[in-house]
Amino acid sequence: MAERTILITGGAGFIGSHVVRLFVNQYPDYRIVNLDALTYAGNLENLRDIEQKPNYTFVRGDIRDLSFLNEVFSRYSFEGVIHLAAESHVDRSLEQPTEFILTNVVGTVNLLTAARNQWKSDFRGHRFYHISTDEVYGSVEHGGFFTEQTPLDPRSPYSASKAASDQFVQAFANTNGMPVLISRCSNNYGPNHFPEKLIPLMINNIINNKPLPVYGKGENVRDWLFVKDHARAIDVIYHRGRVGEVYNIGGNNEWKNIDLVHLLCEVMDRKLKRDPGTSARLITYVTDRPGHDLRYAIDSSKLQTELGWQPSVDFPTGLDQTVDWYLANAEWLRHVTSGDYRQYYESMYAGR
Ligand code: NAD
Ligand code: TYD
Repeated sequence: MAERTILITGGAGFIGSHVVRLFVNQYPDYRIVNLDALTYAGNLENLRDIEQKPNYTFVRGDIRDLSFLNEVFSRYSFEGVIHLAAESHVDRSLEQPTEFILTNVVGTVNLLTAARNQWKSDFRGHRFYHISTDEVYGSVEHGGFFTEQTPLDPRSPYSASKAASDQFVQAFANTNGMPVLISRCSNNYGPNHFPEKLIPLMINNIINNKPLPVYGKGENVRDWLFVKDHARAIDVIYHRGRVGEVYNIGGNNEWKNIDLVHLLCEVMDRKLKRDPGTSARLITYVTDRPGHDLRYAIDSSKLQTELGWQPSVDFPTGLDQTVDWYLANAEWLRHVTSGDYRQYYESMYAGR
């Protein structure tokens, strides 16, 4: 058995697949176990290039099932857990909040329990690393930034479920001595992003000449980080982060939605050899998301000073690579936008 076995949950999803790939390629002497339920957002096509590697194992299963998790923990003796599995889309959380409680809260508590059951005789050398989001801090006025000390103020069912899971992670550290780490990252973008989220949804609609639904006035601000930079941060924090600490991760790259959509339209017109202005004509303002957080802005100076991490991909380069990936992977896009997704899209945007 490999000396160091790490459990990554949600590894078939957007960020998880980049984390799995990084760990499998960078650490050939670790065994990486990817546990994923393969919901609508999980897709093993994301991992085709590494699935045959000898240090990679996929286990299909649901973190809502504690007895299954206990069995997996006793089958492999995990050094650590990097926990990404979650329901991740704010709009879906407005319609189906219970699903978010079950996976994000109950699922996280189940994982903590299974880890405790396995590690309780000696927690030394173990790590439970929980991947959280900047959305747990709520919305911040222009000029302000979230730091690790900013009080949690979640404002959507998604962010409420993530904040609750963060607090359970901290409760297990406090009561059991579980060696935990938490990171809270801003909005990611890049290849393999499911096209329900802003950037891939817009790319997909531009390709198909469909309206580009901008919520409200498009004034909301998000900080965007290239997904591979998030995966690098997770690597650094897993290996060198101080146990018990929270680390913010951000791109220092704030964009108003409407400006970002215009930029994307310009990039797409160029790539698709359409006349300038063609894609922008598809922009359609639609009814705002209820309780839409105005601005997320993150101060990641703790991670930068303590662990020396910095974003390495600037936005024009990252966006360019992202668009190229979607144009080169029409098959992937076609697969994930069939069936379930089409129904979701129709019901989500029908009344807007
Ligand atoms: P995603 O929706 O693309 O992937 C989630 C993965 O979790 C999927 O593979 C899915 O099959 C799996 N999953 C869902 N429910 C499960 C269950 N009950 N049991 C086992 N597996 C299950 O999400 P993502 O965007 O890659 O986000 C990953 C993590 O990072 C989440 O915890 C999210 O809150 C956090 N995060 C995301 C962003 C972002 O911009 N996407 C930013 C900060 C933090
Ligand atoms: P999203 O990608 O859903 O991420 P989050 O809500 O977690 O930040 O949305 C990013 C921003 O884009 C958010 O302000 C909502 C907005 N948005 C639209 O204007 N139109 C859309 O079709 C989507 C999906 C999002």
